[in-house]
This record gives sequence, structure tokens and C-alpha cells, in this order.
Amino acid sequence: MRKYQDWMTVLSNRQIAKDVYEMKLEGEGAGKISAPGQFVNIKIASLESQPYLRRPMSVCEYDDHHLTIIYKVVGKGTQLLTEKKPGDQLDMLLGLGNGFPLPDIKEALLVGGGVGVPPLYELGKQLKARGVKITSVLGFNSQCDVFYETQFKALGEVYVATMDGSYQDQGTAVDVIRKRGLSYDRYFACGPEKMLDALVLFDDKNGYLSFEARMGCGFGACMGCSCKVKTKPYKRICVEGPVLEASEVIVHE
Ligand SMILES: Cc1cc2nc3c(=O)[nH]c(=O)nc-3n(C[C@H](O)[C@H](O)[C@H](O)COP(=O)(O)OP(=O)(O)OC[C@H]3O[C@@H](n4cnc5c(N)ncnc54)[C@H](O)[C@@H]3O)c2cc1C
Ligand code: FES
Repeated sequence: MRKYQDWMTVLSNRQIAKDVYEMKLEGEGAGKISAPGQFVNIKIASLESQPYLRRPMSVCEYDDHHLTIIYKVVGKGTQLLTEKKPGDQLDMLLGLGNGFPLPDIKEALLVGGGVGVPPLYELGKQLKARGVKITSVLGFNSQCDVFYETQFKALGEVYVATMDGSYQDQGTAVDVIRKRGLSYDRYFACGPEKMLDALVLFDDKNGYLSFEARMGCGFGACMGCSCKVKTKPYKRICVEGPVLEASEVIVHE
């Protein structure tokens, strides 16, 4: 697999929800991204200091010279990212993973959970540009976690689900799909494993799911992200994923 390294310059880095930040970057490397749902792998500190592993992040939006990531602070690496200022440079591997397909359909349902929401935004923009009707269901724990509702509203109808019921529908994204009887030709999802499992149990034929499994190298060398699927003994999420078809996913016990 080919991997492209480049330096990207930070344009902005702002908090948009509880512990969640949006970072916009500029650089030629953005031109290496070829599909919505691909990810970048960011070297957050130098090899001499921790953390030395790269950190994978989905691309939320891109064009030939720019990209946006949205990240939640969960540990040292993402905490260090919050300190980046406009003009700082980040060493990135770009255009990683397969990304979402753009099938010939009339209606798409985007289902995002937490920081699984970002890659669905670029996907929604590209599907809408092809004339596809977009409905989005965005799931969060609480109102303080909600982000990008306005951006998704520009694509079509949006339902927000919160686990504690503090904003819009109470429950999971799948609860909302059932309750509202939402229609679609294909669904496209990214989020926590539990949400993806629930979607496969709901419909294992007409969906694509993006997995944000823990990774090592991020480009196919270490096997650290291998996952069992129905069609093969295993797939490496970083190369043959992160997007898998619902029909090949084995639901976790
Ligand atoms: C393909 C892909 C795309 C991703 N896209 C995004 C994104 O768009 N936005 C975003 O916020 N995050 C995303 N992630 C997750 C992100 O990579 C991790 O949150 C990040 O690497 C954590 O780094 P850290 O040094 O801050 O935390 P660490 O110190 O490495 O870990 C802190 C805590 O978070 C847990 N953790 C770390 N990584 C993961 C993971 N992948 N899944 C579940 N728990 C984890 C650890 O077990 C630990 O408890 C993505 C992951 C993958 C594989
Ligand atoms: S993370 Fe190393 S093979 Fe996928």
C-alpha cells in the first residue's frame, strides 16, 4: 500500500463541544485524499518524546489544498493537539484506508455516533452533489457533546439523539431510526462498536460501516488492527477498512 507523508500547516484549532475540537489545515498533502471516510495519521510529538505513535483521525472535509479534522481529547496525544496554533506544522500520513463508496442511490441515511460523526460530513456533501437525498441521525451522550448539527442541516433532514435525553430524541441513533421509520437505499455509519453492532443487527444488507479500531502503524505493516469478517479470515482495518460492508461484519459477542 502507498502512503503519502506531508507537512500540513494549522490554519485554526477551536473547541466546538465538550472536549471536542475542530482543526483546519492547509497543504499539498490534502490532494492525496481520494475518498470520504479516509483517514490521516498524525505524528503529534517527535520520536524522542511521548507519544511517539501516530494518532489516526478521520477526515471531516477536504479539497485539493485543505482538510478538516474533528477530535475529542481522550489522552496525551489529543491533549497535545489542542495546543497547536495557526502556523504550526504537523507531520501527517495522508489518504489512508479505503473510504466510503459512492453508490448510485436515491436516498442515503448517515448515522454518526460521537466522534464517528466527522467522516460522514464530507460523504454527505459528495452524495448531495450527486443528487442523493440525505437524512442524518447524529448520536451523542448529552447536549454538551453535540457538534456540526448546523452543517448537517445544510445537507438535509437531521435527527439528534442523546442518551440522557437532554437534547432532542432520547436514546441511541438506532432507536431514532426505528421510532421515526426512516427510509433509505443505503446507510453509512461511523461510531462506537456498540452502535455499529446494533446497526448490523437492524439491517445487515444495505449499509457501510466505518470502524475506528485502535491502530499501531496505520498502513498495513503490524497487523495490530486485524478484525475477523465473514468474507475472509480477517481484514486490516487500516488498509482493507476502515469501511466494511454490513454484510461482512461479525457482530461482537
Ligand atoms: C480510522 C480511525 C479514525 C479515527 N477518527 C477519529 C476522529 O475523527 N476523531 C476522534 O476524536 N478520534 C478518532 N479516532 C480515535 C483516535 O485515533 C484516538 O482517540 C486517539 O488516537 C487517542 O490518542 P491519545 O494519545 O489522545 O489517547 P491514548 O492515550 O492513546 O488513549 C487514551 C484512552 O482512549 C482510548 N482509545 C484510544 N484510541 C482509541 C480508539 N481508536 N478507540 C477507542 N478507544 C481508544 C484508550 O484505550 C485510552 O483509554 C479514530 C481512530 C481510527 C482508528
Ligand atoms: S495498524 Fe498496523 S496493520 Fe493496521
